[in-house]
Amino acid sequence: MTSSIVILTGAGISAESGIQTFRGADGLWEGHRVEDVATPEGFARDPELVQRFYNERRRHLLSGIEANAGHLALARLEEEFQGEVLLVTQNIDNLHERAGSKNIIHMHGELLKARCLDCDEEMLVENDLGIESECLRCDSQGRLRPDIVWFGEMPYQMPRIETALGNADVFLSIGTSGLVYPAAGFGQLARYAGARTIEANLEETAGSSSFDRCVRGKAGEVLPGLVDELLEMGS
Ligand code: OAD
Repeated sequence: MTSSIVILTGAGISAESGIQTFRGADGLWEGHRVEDVATPEGFARDPELVQRFYNERRRHLLSGIEANAGHLALARLEEEFQGEVLLVTQNIDNLHERAGSKNIIHMHGELLKARCLDCDEEMLVENDLGIESECLRCDSQGRLRPDIVWFGEMPYQMPRIETALGNADVFLSIGTSGLVYPAAGFGQLARYAGARTIEANLEETAGSSSFDRCVRGKAGEVLPGLVDELLEMGS
């Protein structure tokens, strides 16, 4: 009997919605230097460049991008599964929420949130952020940063994620290259703790050999069937 499922998603699940992945020939990191746009040091050096980078991502997300069949399948799993489903995403888009998933951890932060460097208040943002943007709580100017976990920073809610991985019966990793830790180690953690581990990805990844089962294909095409299987196992 399966009573707890933990899912990890990466950029691959949003690829069919038209959001660029990070690695690979036409990935985001081909056109941008990670250390310039995704580190606290890069932000301290050139906040305008970093704000511009995330402003572009935010505008794109709000320009008519829709959740796809992969996101919808995971929302259906949470809705219909009898036990617990925790969705941990590395993605900063809001497509899981838009598809209907509720129990979500955005371990790398959220594009539609900003955080004040002075008072630590989190706030929703739908417009561009700039070096003149004001905090809605403490009124500081130029102290808002995108609420994104950058390289060298601690992902959000790690204790809760580790507890869930330790109790999982099934761990499902979808559309992630398995190159960025700590997320890249979740499969092994869950497996050592006794979970059955499944990877769904277009291609083999750095972590494929540590999964019990690998399903190859586009997330939007393979997830509806995989979710049916998980629902049967749980019933
Ligand atoms: P990557 O760009 O590293 O990997 C995307 C993965 O998705 C690859 O393994 C592809 O094979 C797979 N993929 C592409 N299209 C797919 C599809 N339609 N269906 C299924 N799989 C598909 O993205 P992430 O692994 O998410 O962090 O990257 C992890 C972190 O690195 C990101 O959260 C980001 C980045 O730097 C930060 O910015 C902090």
